[in-house]
Amino acid sequence: MADSKIIVLDFGGQYANLLARRVRELGVYAEIALPDMPLEKLKEAKGVILSGSPYSIASPETPAFNPGIFASKLPILGICYGMQLIARETGGKIGKCDKKEFGKAEMTVLGESPVFMGLPEKSIVWMSHHDQVVEMPKGFEAIGTTEICKIAAMANEKEKIYGMQFHPEVAHTEFGMEIIANFVLDVCGCKKEWSMEGYLDKAIADIKQKAGGKKVLLLASGGVDSTVTLALLARALEEEKIFALHVDTGLMREGESGAVEKALGELELGQQLKVVDYSKEFFKELGKTIDPEKKREIIGRLFLDATKKEVEKLGFNENEWVLAQGTIYPDTIETARTKYSDRIKTHHNRIEEIAKLVEKGAIIEPLSELYKDEVRELGKLLGLNDELVWRQPFPGPGLGIRVLCSDGKALEKKVSAEEKKAKEIAKKHGFGACILPVKSVGVAGDLRTYRHPVLLSGELDWEKLETASIELTNSLSEINRVVFLAAPGSVKKAKAKKAFLDEKRAELCRKADSIANRIVLAKGIQAGIWQFPVILLPIDIDKKGEAIVLRPVQSKEAMTAEFYRMEPEILRQMASEIAKIKGIGAVFYDITNKPPGTIEWE
Ligand code: XMP
Repeated sequence: MADSKIIVLDFGGQYANLLARRVRELGVYAEIALPDMPLEKLKEAKGVILSGSPYSIASPETPAFNPGIFASKLPILGICYGMQLIARETGGKIGKCDKKEFGKAEMTVLGESPVFMGLPEKSIVWMSHHDQVVEMPKGFEAIGTTEICKIAAMANEKEKIYGMQFHPEVAHTEFGMEIIANFVLDVCGCKKEWSMEGYLDKAIADIKQKAGGKKVLLLASGGVDSTVTLALLARALEEEKIFALHVDTGLMREGESGAVEKALGELELGQQLKVVDYSKEFFKELGKTIDPEKKREIIGRLFLDATKKEVEKLGFNENEWVLAQGTIYPDTIETARTKYSDRIKTHHNRIEEIAKLVEKGAIIEPLSELYKDEVRELGKLLGLNDELVWRQPFPGPGLGIRVLCSDGKALEKKVSAEEKKAKEIAKKHGFGACILPVKSVGVAGDLRTYRHPVLLSGELDWEKLETASIELTNSLSEINRVVFLAAPGSVKKAKAKKAFLDEKRAELCRKADSIANRIVLAKGIQAGIWQFPVILLPIDIDKKGEAIVLRPVQSKEAMTAEFYRMEPEILRQMASEIAKIKGIGAVFYDITNKPPGTIEWE
């Protein structure tokens, strides 16, 4: 295998592991390593990829790396921060962009570089950066350009060193896979030797070793990740050693816990399944918490507390059992559990206490290196049915992070100061605009953001709305999201409202979610939607009630996403039905891609 290995040096970018995953997708083995890896080790690879980073290349403290790499004669591909590092280390110059550039951009190919072989002259690439190369080092030429980023890609063909400001590894870069294949197979000359079957054998052996004869208790949400984990456990261990626990948090979708019990039961994997109701504890502890990170920590801890209590009831003593989770790679990277990454959000299965178990090797997480689409592939390989394999992702914290909370404070001055510019940009594209008094989490240049959305109103035209959305989030420093007013026709005043997470608000969100879900299924559009969060905002609309946000997205592995363009007639029906719910004053439609938004709002 080492014959055809690619090493990805991880500077902490959100997509470092995704780069390795893309290489594996080509059938070539790829490994992640820290950037200061010794040269002898690096030289075992046929090529090196330098990832992006949450650090600015100009900051005094950046991740340590091995400068010998640039004289190693190995082919190098630097992505985003990686490109800027190449430029800085070999005599180029870096500067700030005049405008920020997050999400979609159109790149024009220049010249005939082998890494862009087979690409059309113009194609869509995905950007996420504040800095960029403004002067190339000697020996390099520009091979790609966008409107905002003149040197979007550069190459030193003689030394086989390439830099790309955009991210070829994300599914939304139109010809990303072709570019990676050109680098890995043609420039580096790798052979295709890696497979999911090989991964399966390794995962089974790993589970056996980690369980070491103990009982294994799996937290089963009923989603694809925990179900595939269960199927793996069933392949690796004796039936009586496997226990599955489903915790009903009171923050599930309508009928979810019942459906999970049925689906897991039908699987006949031999597990002993227990469904327990902890909804009272969840509502009580979440009480008046507003900060999304605090909410996530509480939820993670409550899952663990529930597990411990149930283990006690089962009568297992401490050294007799080990915990298993269906954690996948994005959960780890977004929680900043890799050395240099920024915390975008704490996934419920990655709180501090769990991280300690991971460090000690005391937890079984056979999917922790994989992405959602790889998990689905593994699920199919294990013989799970399509219905289970293709279930829409639903986050562990459930409605806990979809019902937003607020202390009711109005917009800060520095935010309302941006409203004039927001209105100007919106008007240029034919829309009315206002900034909403609520914040949501986003991701920009590998860093977490926590900013406000702009509400646009006017005629539904997805093309124009997307252009306006991109311009607003790229131009305004307090904005990371844009929503469109789907119902009613107009809104006079959107006022911040003091509101917390309680059963009543959870029920309101659940009702809207259930209507959206029913219409999606009735119209047969579910296959085009990767995930469809429905969110409740603590905003009072013209004294009529709170606002619901519809957030259907298209994605492949959740690291990037594009908002879904729903047929106007279907959206009209959905919005008007939801707007009729007592307590709902308006329905918004999220028109933000990821980046600069995230799929969920918290
Ligand atoms: P974002 O919102 O970061 O979400 O774009 C990416 C994917 O992760 C899911 N998600 C979670 N899943 N526990 C989970 O199991 C969590 O704490 C969590 N937070 C987000 C989200 O629904 C999307 O599919």
